[in-house]
Amino acid sequence: MKFFIDTANLDQIREAQELGILDGVTTNPSLMAKEGITGQDNILAHYVKICEIVDGDVSAEVISTDFDGMVKEGEALADLHEQIVVKLPMIKDGVKACKYFTDKGIRTNVTLVFSAGQALLAAKAGATYVSPFLGRLDDISTDGLNLIEEIRLIYDNYAFDTEILAASIRHTMHVIDCAKLGADVMTGPLSSITGLLKHPLTDIGLEKFLQDYQKGNK
Ligand code: E4P
Repeated sequence: MKFFIDTANLDQIREAQELGILDGVTTNPSLMAKEGITGQDNILAHYVKICEIVDGDVSAEVISTDFDGMVKEGEALADLHEQIVVKLPMIKDGVKACKYFTDKGIRTNVTLVFSAGQALLAAKAGATYVSPFLGRLDDISTDGLNLIEEIRLIYDNYAFDTEILAASIRHTMHVIDCAKLGADVMTGPLSSITGLLKHPLTDIGLEKFLQDYQKGNK
């Protein structure tokens, strides 16, 4: 399972990278705005900074909603750095643009996916990644994990290469449940990754080991 961090915060990206388990980064316009990154030139420069920190894929989202605009923006994003994956919204022109980029060998992440049908279309268009938004479905009392399970079944039925990128992960149990269901990738906040470290018995056990070492080595 690949671990992506879902943020545009450089300190958090560095912290996850230093842990040695980071496979990539996802961003979106809201995450960029949260870090105060505004203006197209600054946004593009920020993507390059992210690529310089991590070894893996960095999803950079287009803001156009028409085919021509998405193609123009996506090509500029892909030209920025070899690690960039063009992130496209799951709308009609987004599917068309996905097919266009697939044919050109440019990698894509189809985002804002909330149904199995949308995920099927993304795979048909050759998306590198499909991003079902788990947490946002849970937010409206709909089972987000069920969507991951449905997409896994459909993709396995036809051996689609598109990787399931479980997005909108909110906490550690989402990560574990997605791993059980066979999601290829998770993307979530740093806390959803570092939270996996925690177990009180680990802390108690370590404290005891260190105390016993001290006793024996006075
Ligand atoms: C995915 O790529 C999105 O950036 C993200 O996971 C959205 O998560 P949210 O629902 O917590 O905003």
